[in-house]
Amino acid sequence: MNKKRVLSGVQPTGNLHLGNYLGAIRNWVEIQSEYDNYFCVVDLHAITVPHNPATLAQDTLKIAALYLACGINLNNSTIFVQSHVKAHTELTWLLNCITPLNWLTDMIQFKEKAVKQGENVGVGLLDYPVLMAADILLYDADKVPVGEDQKQHLELTRDIAVRINHLFGKKDQKILKLPEPMIRKEGARVMSLTDGRSKMSKSDPAEGSRINILDNADTIAQKIKRCKTDPIKGLTFDDPDRPECNNLLTLYTLLSGKTKEAVAVECLDMGWGQFKPLLTETTIEALKPIQQKYHEIMDERSYLTGVLGSGAEKAAATADKTLERVKGAMGYLPPAIL
Ligand code: TYM
Repeated sequence: MNKKRVLSGVQPTGNLHLGNYLGAIRNWVEIQSEYDNYFCVVDLHAITVPHNPATLAQDTLKIAALYLACGINLNNSTIFVQSHVKAHTELTWLLNCITPLNWLTDMIQFKEKAVKQGENVGVGLLDYPVLMAADILLYDADKVPVGEDQKQHLELTRDIAVRINHLFGKKDQKILKLPEPMIRKEGARVMSLTDGRSKMSKSDPAEGSRINILDNADTIAQKIKRCKTDPIKGLTFDDPDRPECNNLLTLYTLLSGKTKEAVAVECLDMGWGQFKPLLTETTIEALKPIQQKYHEIMDERSYLTGVLGSGAEKAAATADKTLERVKGAMGYLPPAIL
């Protein structure tokens, strides 16, 4: 029986943090053997906010190396760079033309990011979710493992697919497959270390608000030492008045591999003075093997570019078929007839 298909991606902007790892990549690694997976580095998305051309290529390689270092296995998975597969931009255009403008102006992330950019907000930022829909729909993905913040974009992707099927499909023949989001409960929304009510984010100007996957031991220790806590003794999950406590306990649970129940018992009588060194040690130990592997991979540049070269070839073969299917349904003249 054919395996179901998974697609997901991360933007090469800034450093990957624990939110990206626990909300997305770690889950990809856990489920990968059950699926046929496509993991892309979404470099076209990275220019929807002002970017640095001097670092884009290196940042793209870094993310691909991190996918491998976190445990993505090439026996089950294809790793590629979004801009290497031309079908992504072409399908985006086709989808743009059937997507109502208000679907995009309603997107929460657009509203949040647009406010930050003020007058200079670009069309790319508005169109970002359509490009994401193209990423997913090109691969006939069944499941899309992401963090909670991408849920609305997944709903939009489904709406776009329904619309294409409705406008151009036949009753018994769907053109695009409707993907399902795959959002794990634990780790789906890792919060900032400096404010337990806002999401850990690459764009937060406060470096102390996040732990990056590549942070060294001293940096991790400093960030956890300074992170926001509360004056209450005894640490408990799920208290709405203690968002920092819930977040730090969740991080400890996920990084230690212990169950929530076991952590609840272990930390019930602890104070922060006892818990913070424990979380520090656990975080450093969990990230150490990833960091080691990452440096090995980055030192073997030709291996990494080879992985991305064959990944792009395989991804393009899959994506081009879907693109031709959509163009055919929309009535385009196929080039072979010219
Ligand atoms: P990006 O690059 O912002 O984030 C990558 C992944 O990390 C998850 N994530 C989090 N999870 C838990 N807690 C957090 N604090 C946190 N911050 C980020 C995100 O949910 C995401 O899964 N639009 C996407 C990239 C993308 C994509 C796609 C994803 C483009 N095309 C197709 C899936 C399928 C984004 O900007 O992710």
